[in-house]
Amino acid sequence: MNRPPALPDPTDVPLRGPVLPFKTQLLKWVGSKQKFAHDIIAHFPANMQMYHEPFLGAGGVMAVLAPGRGFGSDIFGPLVQIWQALAADPDQLKAWYADRWQAFHAGDRVAAYEAVKARYNAAPNGADLLFLCRACYGGGVRFRRRDGHMSPPCGSHPPIKPAAFARRVDLWHARLRGVQFDQLDYREAMARPRPGDLVYCDPPYSFSQTILYGAQAFSLPDLFSAIEDCRRRGVHVALSIDGTKKSGGVDCEISPPDGLFTQEIMVNIGRSMLRRFQMGGQTMEGEQVRDRLLLTY
Ligand SMILES: C[S@@+](CC[C@H](N)C(=O)[O-])C[C@H]1O[C@@H](n2cnc3c(N)ncnc32)[C@H](O)[C@@H]1O
Repeated sequence: MNRPPALPDPTDVPLRGPVLPFKTQLLKWVGSKQKFAHDIIAHFPANMQMYHEPFLGAGGVMAVLAPGRGFGSDIFGPLVQIWQALAADPDQLKAWYADRWQAFHAGDRVAAYEAVKARYNAAPNGADLLFLCRACYGGGVRFRRRDGHMSPPCGSHPPIKPAAFARRVDLWHARLRGVQFDQLDYREAMARPRPGDLVYCDPPYSFSQTILYGAQAFSLPDLFSAIEDCRRRGVHVALSIDGTKKSGGVDCEISPPDGLFTQEIMVNIGRSMLRRFQMGGQTMEGEQVRDRLLLTY
């Protein structure tokens, strides 16, 4: 009979400790954790065989960590096309952006933006998503729940110039060198890690983020069983989860199964992006939003 490897004693896992922030963004993405990723990474194990991020999003944590080697995946195909281009052909990524930026500045900007959006909605693809996320209103793309179409209008800010974007591509390409990017459901991605690897999960929040990432149903209990499976195999898992009690009036406090995690850390992420959207752009001064970071080690 195959016995699972002995579980590591949590006190045997030395943590990484202070990590420098890296705030230059490649994509504008609602829910990106890049601004405070260094606070999360400080709680990662100091040593890991391989790093896995199965809810990669805009890569805000991966880019700060710059893991040297690892796997990044997401279920959202057009987004993964961007990461694959960054890794394999950064010049193509620069050209995708520059072509659309030039068309945008050549005439009626709103019409040019709407044309890119219509093309994306007819056939979702990474090249159009890249430009839309930088040019849309509200600092990041959102999708209509009904049909998954991208909804935001053109932003009023000037999208970053191609030369400046190209410098970011070079910076990100260097930081993410050695990472393989795949379009995968997290369940497949979390079957891959081996003992001694680390998986960092930043799933869509159960209630609040469905409007941002489309209408995919997401079940936290399923994620907890994938995490349990990793833990049994001797794989460390860190999970970010909404630390606030209410979101949009819905109570979304999360109770993980007993014994799955050994530590819980509160990470301060400043004011809530989502609330700001719901309040029509108003900020809520003084409201602190905290994320829970749950560790299996
Ligand atoms: C909160 S975002 C991650 C943000 C990321 N940490 C960052 O800093 O940019 C969650 C991501 O999970 C992805 N996602 C949703 N359901 C998924 C699934 N079943 N499998 C894999 N990825 C999924 C979404 O496409 C989205 O990009």
